[in-house]
Amino acid sequence: MSEESLQQLIDTAKSARLRSIAPFSNFLVGAAVKTAEGKVYTGCNVESASYGLTVCAERVAIWKALSEGERQFTELAIVADTEALTPPCGTCRQIIWEFAKNATIVLGNLRGETQVVSIRELLPRAFDARFLSGAAKETAKESPKETS
Ligand code: THU
Repeated sequence: MSEESLQQLIDTAKSARLRSIAPFSNFLVGAAVKTAEGKVYTGCNVESASYGLTVCAERVAIWKALSEGERQFTELAIVADTEALTPPCGTCRQIIWEFAKNATIVLGNLRGETQVVSIRELLPRAFDARFLSGAAKETAKESPKETS
């Protein structure tokens, strides 16, 4: 993808950021994820008075896209107003790994600084469904029926 298309996605994430509902942290984050067909879904963080129910901008964008049937993602932009570019939190890294593994991730701030990162560098040695299928086999092997 071109630098221009990443910049466009950053601009879209920047606009989405302005829709953040963040009365508790006042930390506004915007995200935009692009599909292989070029469609863009945006997200902003949405905070709950029950703090732990808060959802990050990245996951809102990814959930919106997945719920519309999208499965292939090429780019993900994340924008916050921080000097050091804000990376996705640990929970979002897991979701990006599972659903948008091949997306180029571009971080941006309001000063116009950007950096491209990959989920492989952000979440090395990730856990995913491959381990669950292994566990299913182990469980089957160790089931009382088979061992008794
Ligand atoms: N937040 C995001 O939306 N994305 C991130 O990558 C980091 C954190 C939100 C969650 C919460 O609403 C606020 O930022 C402060 O943690």
